[in-house]
Amino acid sequence: MSYRNALSREQNKMAGVWAPLLAVLAFGGFSVATGENENLRSLVQASVMFRHGDRSPTQTFPTDIHKEDAWEQGFGFLSSIGIEQHHNLGEFFRKRYGKEGFKVLSEKFKRDEVYVRSTDTDRTLMSVEANLDRLFPDQPVPVHTVRTGTDMLLRAFWLKCPRAVELLEEAKNSEEFLQKEEENKEFMAYVVKKAGWDRPHGIMDAWRTEDPLLCEKAHNMSWPDWVTPEVYKRLHELTAYAYETHFVGDEKGKLMAGLLIHNIVSNMTEARQEVLEDKKVHRLLMYSAHDLDISALLSALNVYNNMSAPYASCVLIELYQDRLGSFSVQISYRNDSSHDPYVLTVPGCDAFCPFDDFVTLIDDVIMSPGRWRRACELPPRSFFSGFLYGVFVATIVLFAVLALPIFRRGQAAPAGDDTAES
Ligand SMILES: *[C@@H]1O[C@H](CO)[C@@H](O)[C@H](O)[C@H]1NC(C)=O
Ligand SMILES: *[C@@H]1O[C@H](CO)[C@@H](O)[C@H](O)[C@H]1NC(C)=O
Ligand SMILES: *[C@@H]1O[C@H](CO)[C@@H](O)[C@H](O)[C@H]1NC(C)=O
Repeated sequence: MSYRNALSREQNKMAGVWAPLLAVLAFGGFSVATGENENLRSLVQASVMFRHGDRSPTQTFPTDIHKEDAWEQGFGFLSSIGIEQHHNLGEFFRKRYGKEGFKVLSEKFKRDEVYVRSTDTDRTLMSVEANLDRLFPDQPVPVHTVRTGTDMLLRAFWLKCPRAVELLEEAKNSEEFLQKEEENKEFMAYVVKKAGWDRPHGIMDAWRTEDPLLCEKAHNMSWPDWVTPEVYKRLHELTAYAYETHFVGDEKGKLMAGLLIHNIVSNMTEARQEVLEDKKVHRLLMYSAHDLDISALLSALNVYNNMSAPYASCVLIELYQDRLGSFSVQISYRNDSSHDPYVLTVPGCDAFCPFDDFVTLIDDVIMSPGRWRRACELPPRSFFSGFLYGVFVATIVLFAVLALPIFRRGQAAPAGDDTAES
């Protein structure tokens, strides 16, 4: 609500007579109608979230001949391919936002232009460093991070959220899920036996066998004989299905990505104000994260393609201003380095979605910390607000107790007595 108020105030200011008039004068009165022309827009701010690059598996199955020491730096680490992928993405950012592109970044890193945040894992931190090494060669750039478990921006999945747990339980008890589990019971029992796991695996565990196989394939390592292309394909599909059960869906996406979306929208709102007041603007906000963050973000924005996010894939949420002064948002997805980013259109809007419309359309998934806590069905946040709440209740009770005798006395007073003043 507060966004919309702030927005319409700004809009009124901009939509005044002057902006269009000036624009028409500037263009000599023609060519203004071709609103889709790129040249008519300047970039105000870009928020980009990407996945880390290629990595080693985080664990493997007991009978695997490729143990942890088969990987250069052990499990769960960014590989040299992953570093390459982020060099490539960093070059892409430099082209897009630097002097060859939208010209919003200076040659040298400037702290009031760029803000970088990563989750607290080696592979995301290394990825963003590899990336920045190409975006700002030979310059140290600060990367902010917050410990998993307290990271409300990028690791909402690891925070306590009773509603998210409940949603997952519901999904796992749905008829569709139970049927799928039944259909794959025999297959999973076969996998468990061959892989040497010491307990039964359901669909939700398929990744434990699938993930190391996926990484080994990417690194040309051999697979055991029992992993035929069919077996792998089936494991892969089950992993994708389990993943979706976990993270995808309006409410799940909202609980996982809503805090980040709130941040992005606040930052865009602020950037818009700064442009109007001719102030300095944060041009590029970078978030280094994981596949599930990307799925949740795309899912919450209703533009998910139901395909898990490839390594180093990147969601770009960009705020533009056109020559008439209006602001719009474009979302695109760079999931393939050999292809331009795919433009994703929020249902109900255009590829360049007017900022106010954008905020209205996604209002439901913009989660301030307070709103997020309510959606998670958690009690009010801090000790302080709990304390204030306590004081508030105590005050009311105290007033009630004190006021009662007065009220009683007032009632009991005989008519005509001079009680009117009390
Ligand atoms: C795996 O093999 C393919 C085809 O021979 C090659 O292009 C690729 O670079 C290899 N990957 C690794 C990680 O060695
Ligand atoms: C983005 O918005 C959040 C929430 O309002 C704020 O805490 C943060 O400082 C902003 N970041 C930048 C770089 O402006
Ligand atoms: C990338 O995303 C687009 C749009 O959703 C989709 O059509 C395409 O198949 C995806 N490609 C990859 C490699 O995931």
